[in-house]
Amino acid sequence: MTLAAIDFAAADPEALAAHEGRIAAFADDKLDPAARRLDRLAKGALARAVASPAWEKLKPGEGIELAFPAGLKARAVHLIRMPRTAAPDDLRKAGVLIGAALGEEGALVAAASLRKPAPLVEGLALRAYRFAHRAEAPKPLGPVTIASNDPDATREACAPVLAVAEAVHFARDLVNEPANILTTTEFASRLEALRKTGLEVEVLDEAAMERLGMRALLAVGQGSESPSQLVVMRWHGGGDEAPLALVGKGVVFDTGGISIKPAAGMEDMIMDMGGAAVVAGTMQALAARKAKANVVGLVGLVENMPDGRAQRPGDVVRSMKGDTIEVINTDAEGRLVLADVLWYAQENFQPAAVIDLATLTGAIIIALGDKKAGVFANDDALADAFLKAAGAVGEGAWRMPLGEAYDKQLKSRMADMKNVGGRMAGSVTAAQFLQRFIKEGTPWMHLDIAGVTLYSKDSDHAPKGASGWGVRALDALVAARFENKSGG
Ligand code: BES
Ligand code: MN
Ligand code: ZN
Repeated sequence: MTLAAIDFAAADPEALAAHEGRIAAFADDKLDPAARRLDRLAKGALARAVASPAWEKLKPGEGIELAFPAGLKARAVHLIRMPRTAAPDDLRKAGVLIGAALGEEGALVAAASLRKPAPLVEGLALRAYRFAHRAEAPKPLGPVTIASNDPDATREACAPVLAVAEAVHFARDLVNEPANILTTTEFASRLEALRKTGLEVEVLDEAAMERLGMRALLAVGQGSESPSQLVVMRWHGGGDEAPLALVGKGVVFDTGGISIKPAAGMEDMIMDMGGAAVVAGTMQALAARKAKANVVGLVGLVENMPDGRAQRPGDVVRSMKGDTIEVINTDAEGRLVLADVLWYAQENFQPAAVIDLATLTGAIIIALGDKKAGVFANDDALADAFLKAAGAVGEGAWRMPLGEAYDKQLKSRMADMKNVGGRMAGSVTAAQFLQRFIKEGTPWMHLDIAGVTLYSKDSDHAPKGASGWGVRALDALVAARFENKSGG
């Protein structure tokens, strides 16, 4: 769903008295001016809240809610603890709190005392998300007014975070959508619609991929009624430097294929296109904020189904690179898709660096749970820059190893490699498999996002469901490392 309407207005004491929705106000040991005004109207209720023992226990960004306060029209005042020295994380946390409580009635955020409210607006926009399920249309979220002393400056300062939040919502919508609706072709046409943002979008069909020799990718999709698609999105905001390539796994549904998955929980496999969704969301964000960088996003869209035409365990397929793969387990399909898309990306764009995102292994969930994505890289500087960017935006990530010793687990008697490496270190052998499709000297990073893509409970910045993890970290990485080097 699109962003809740967020408006910027001048701080106005009259509006505090008249507002009928929710109000967010700020205090530390003392009430800020807007909170003081609310306190006078509410006959000292806010001052009592700040003097209470509960207040002392609050961390920055946490708050107390006063419901239906006497003397005010508002249905609630959310009094949030915010020291002058608050970090961006604290402000984001406060925004998440306001976004989580937001309902149809809307909210007024009395933000005049906050020096840099953008992270708060970011947290609010990220959290104020509802997926429009077909059975039951969600109640619209009421309008939000951010009141400050210089609304034009605040609006300008918040524009980039709102653009990125909208892109996060786009990525979440794709992940939340069931697989009967978001087929490969529907996915491709939603990406074609990104042309309106200024992206160049090209779709390669099965015949085109066949001509390129992408038998690894095509073998995964051959059991499905939905044709496989390769979508290439280009943002040319830089000069003539080589682009960053973002590559996404887009398995619209993963039954496992002939190596079929158990029934319990299989419905979660609607999220197996999460990597592709995050690539698409990042491309939208870069276009929306007119990033001064060259970035190309490539997603392989397939459906992994059991069928009379489906690939079998034991099949040997030839990848676009030319290496042959013995398919031991048809449920290790993501790496087959990525092998060809990674190779295509390098052959066509000679990228300065390649980053792939994939809900690749259950093993990464065993290793890191749902708090952090696995980061595999052949380039320390790239990995470090990404970990820093992810940390700054509050998206969890943790470096994992690569190494020759793990690579041996992929040895096959029948082909150049097997598509599985046995029980041990499943996420690492999957990454090793991908690395075989990275050219010598190309900086590359693989993000295994199986644990952080879909949540059964509310997560840090999102309600239950898709998180959109990675859009903000990648956007921040592009800003920090790939933007405006040759002055585009
Ligand atoms: N899409 C799955 C990985 C996954 C599991 C994502 C759980 C999200 C939640 C992937 O295609 C897969 O099935 N991987 C197998 C690999 C195995 C057969 C080597 C796995 O992790 O079990
Ligand atoms: Mn699978
Ligand atoms: Zn999969």
